Amino acid sequence: ITIFIPRDAAALALGADGVAAAMAKEIAARGIPARIVRNGSRGMHWLEPLVEVDSGGARRAFGPVAPGDVASLFAAGFLDGDAHPLALGPTDAIPFLARQTRLTFARCGVTDPLSLDDYRRHDGLRGLEKAVAMAPEDIVREVTDSGLRGRGGAGFPTGIKWNTVRGAVAEQKYIVCNADEGDSGTFADRMIMEGDPFVLIEGMAIAGLAVGATKGFIYIRSEYPHAVAAMRAAILIARAEGILGPAVLGSGRGFDMEVRVGAGAYVCGEETSLLNSLEGKRGVVRAKPPLPALQGLFGKPTVVNNVISLASVPVILDKGAAYYKDFGMGRSRGTIPIQIAGNVKHAGLFETGFGLTLGEIIETIGGGTASGRPVKAVQVGGPLGAYFPPALFDTPFDYEAFAAKDGLIGHAGITVFDDSADMLKMARFAMEFCAVENCGKCTPCRIGSTRGVETLDKLALGIEPDASLALVTDLCNTMKFGSLCALGGFTPYPVMSALTHFPQDFVPRPAAVA
Ligand code: NAI
Ligand code: SF4
Repeated sequence: ITIFIPRDAAALALGADGVAAAMAKEIAARGIPARIVRNGSRGMHWLEPLVEVDSGGARRAFGPVAPGDVASLFAAGFLDGDAHPLALGPTDAIPFLARQTRLTFARCGVTDPLSLDDYRRHDGLRGLEKAVAMAPEDIVREVTDSGLRGRGGAGFPTGIKWNTVRGAVAEQKYIVCNADEGDSGTFADRMIMEGDPFVLIEGMAIAGLAVGATKGFIYIRSEYPHAVAAMRAAILIARAEGILGPAVLGSGRGFDMEVRVGAGAYVCGEETSLLNSLEGKRGVVRAKPPLPALQGLFGKPTVVNNVISLASVPVILDKGAAYYKDFGMGRSRGTIPIQIAGNVKHAGLFETGFGLTLGEIIETIGGGTASGRPVKAVQVGGPLGAYFPPALFDTPFDYEAFAAKDGLIGHAGITVFDDSADMLKMARFAMEFCAVENCGKCTPCRIGSTRGVETLDKLALGIEPDASLALVTDLCNTMKFGSLCALGGFTPYPVMSALTHFPQDFVPRPAAVA
């Protein structure tokens, strides 16, 4: 009998360690031949800590389990029956999971994250085994043909980026994994690093073989200590097993990697700022060109990809470009791990092919608001994403469809707000966030965001409302078209979408200003 209790940070925050300790005590006291595996999360946050039992048949789930529930679970015979109020039945039949298409997250929450045997048993390393036998240009072609686009937010075709690096001539090239997942309401990178670290290692090794890079760095934000620990432990295991090192899987080609920890700046998620930080410099944005693909880390050709982009590569190599490309719609191919957060009943990670409408995601999958009040707005794409009103809920989850509605998918984080949200305050928050987090390099962003906060405060107080409104719009235009990077360039999305879709919140009401 195996009992699975997540070690994912979200589950730990909700008491998973206490549950594991109580389980271990009961098992010992009752002399039951059961072992506890600390798995990753299945991504159903409202059910965490989610305990699963494998007693031979389908895995059965119980949740959310508190340490105080453990004695009653044993009393109800939960190891071979479902006679307990927390019983959820077979895990895979839970509608939130059953509706998903898990390609990138296929193993997350299923396996022991640090067991290489488990990884192999669940199709791990098949992509890398194929890649070591392929010519670099064939690996790149497979990724290009799959239609995979950068999952960090910009949606740039991964294969085209790799091809630029592959074609560059240099004695040293690098793979840099951007794990500085700074967007509010996003957690896909963290979940995969904690729940299936080998898939990221495998993806980075394939990228190295494809472009001729022998060294990789994973830049993880310091707020993710569990991900840092999981990745470091997995790298040691992979190195000891010959997956990393001078001869990847016994081939003639080498690839190794290490973890670097950020220091808490949102802007270090921007790729050039991240590269400066990796080089030990201040995290200031660099002008592009030159592209990192040609002059990146230490001036060498560098692939900079988000965690999810790289973690999606093994399944593409294993099952083929056509298999992956078959999912999705339009130019958005494959699957996307949507992160549902905020005021929503069923928050968590939902991996699916592109194309579900925003309404289906919020209402059917998310179950509407947790507060039970009507949805007022959803912000898609993190703090730099646009607010969508329910009137736009028919928008399909697709890069182009969102752009056509003046929004962006970004890193696929969705934050739900009910009708108590004050959209002027949310617009102000966007400007304030930008004012606090910007790197200071360019004027439209550095000055514009501070002026934006002041002007929105004036608007709330009713001071020169028409002129203030015109000034906010003008500042947004200047920031959008004049900023050097996406932080200043995208802050207008939340501000202007709030103004456009919720004009009623922008009428003066002095009490709104603290
Ligand atoms: P970008 O459009 O400038 O670049 C996209 C990527 O393509 C970059 O890696 C760039 O170097 C590369 N690229 C462009 N042309 C190329 C070529 N010809 N050959 C090879 N590579 C090429 O976008 P950027 O500034 O990198 O990212 C902006 C996005 O970041 C936004 O859409 C936003 O959603 C997202 N974002 C994500 C966050 C997160 O936590 N994941 C946080 C903040 C923003
Ligand atoms: Fe720095 Fe903002 Fe300019 Fe980006 S837009 S370079 S964060 S000042």
